[in-house]
Amino acid sequence: MQSRLQNVRIAGLGHYLPERIVTNAELERTVETSDQWIQDRTGIKERRIARNDETASSLGLAAAKMAVEDADIDPATIDLVLVGTTTPDGLFPSTASLIQDKIGATHAGGWDCAAACAGFLSAFATGMQFIQTGASKRVLVVGTEVLSRIINWQDRGTCVLFGDGAGAVLLEAAEYGGPLGLVMRSDGSKKYHLWAEGIGAARDEDGNGPTLEQCMIQMDGPAMFKSAVHAMTDAVREALVQSELTVDDIDLFVPHQANLRIMQGTAKALGMPLEKVIATVHKYGNNSSATIPIALSEAYREGRLEEGMKVAMCTIGGGLAWGAMILEYSRVGVRPAVASKEAAGVPAGGAG
Ligand code: UT7
Repeated sequence: MQSRLQNVRIAGLGHYLPERIVTNAELERTVETSDQWIQDRTGIKERRIARNDETASSLGLAAAKMAVEDADIDPATIDLVLVGTTTPDGLFPSTASLIQDKIGATHAGGWDCAAACAGFLSAFATGMQFIQTGASKRVLVVGTEVLSRIINWQDRGTCVLFGDGAGAVLLEAAEYGGPLGLVMRSDGSKKYHLWAEGIGAARDEDGNGPTLEQCMIQMDGPAMFKSAVHAMTDAVREALVQSELTVDDIDLFVPHQANLRIMQGTAKALGMPLEKVIATVHKYGNNSSATIPIALSEAYREGRLEEGMKVAMCTIGGGLAWGAMILEYSRVGVRPAVASKEAAGVPAGGAG
C-alpha cells in the first residue's frame, strides 16, 4: 500500500447491446400504451432485448472483451473484476467470477456490486479506490443487465421503460486522471419506490415465498421521478464542491438513463446546458447498471469524450441507492501539460 493516492486512467472502454430491437409499436400490441405516450413521458423510442441464450455474464463478457481489446492488455494482468448487476446469472457464483474466468483474468479477484441502477457507479468507485490506494494496478469494471428477465410484461407502468445491455471500463494506475469528487448515498426507507422480491424473502404463515410476479420490477413511478431529480442534483452539487469545481467546469454530463425528462430536469436544476448531456435512453431505454458505461463507451467512440475532460456522472435506483462522481478523464494517464511538452520534444519534468 502507498501513502499517496494513485491517479487512475481509463485505459479501455467497451459496450454490447443485444441485436433484437423492440419498438414502442411492438409494445402497443401487448399492453395498453402508445408510442406517443412512451416518447412524450420518457423519451424512449426502442430498447434491446437479449436472446434466450444470453445472460448478464455473456453480455458483460462481450463488453469486457471490447474494453480489454481497446486497452490492448493481457487479461491475465487484471487484478480485480467488479460487476454492477441487478440480474446476475445466479445468486452465486458472482457474475464477476463468471466474466473473470471467460475473459482469462487468471490472477484477478472478483465480486458483484448489487445497488440496482447505482451498481455500476458503486463498482466503478470501488475499482477506482483499489487503484488509488495502490492495492490494484488494473481493474475491470462491468455494468450488465438482462432486465427483460425481471420485467412484468403485463405492467405498462414498467415494461415500456427497461432494456438489456452491458458496458465495461478498464481502469489502470497512472500519473494523471481519476475521481475528483465522489458521493454515494442510500435510503432503505424508500424501498417501495422501486423493488423486486427475491428467493430470500420472508415466507407467509403457510411457508409460501414470493410469487414470480412479486420477483419482477415493481415501481412507484411518480415517487421515483421526484426522488431521482432531487437526489441526483444534490449529489452532483456535493461532488462539485468536493472537486472545487462549478457546473461551468464540467465538459460532459453522463446521467443514469432512466427517463429523458429526469435527465433534462436534473440538468436544468444544475444549470447544465443540454449540449453537455449524453443521452442513449431513446434507443436503449433504462439498462440499470449498464447505462453509464454504455454511454461512456459510445461517447468515446463518437469522439465526444476527450482527454482531460471533466465528466460528471450520476445515478439513482432501487434502494434507494444513488450517487455522483466528478471524473478527470484521461486515457493516456499523463498530465496534459506534460503530454503536450513531450509532443513538442521537451522531456517530461523539463523546462517549466
Ligand atoms: O432506474 C431507476 C429510476 N427509474 C426512474 O427514475 C423512473 C421514474 N419514473 C418515471 O420515469 C415516470 O414516473 C414514468 C415514466 C414511470 C411514468 O410517467 P408519469 O408522467 O410519472 O406518469 P404517471 O405514472 O403519473 O401516470 C400518468 C398516467 C396514468 O393514468 P391516469 O391515472 O392519469 O389515468 C397512468 O396509468 O399515465 C398512465 N400510464 C400509461 N399510459 C400509457 C402509465 N404508464 C403508461 C403507459 N402507457 N406505458
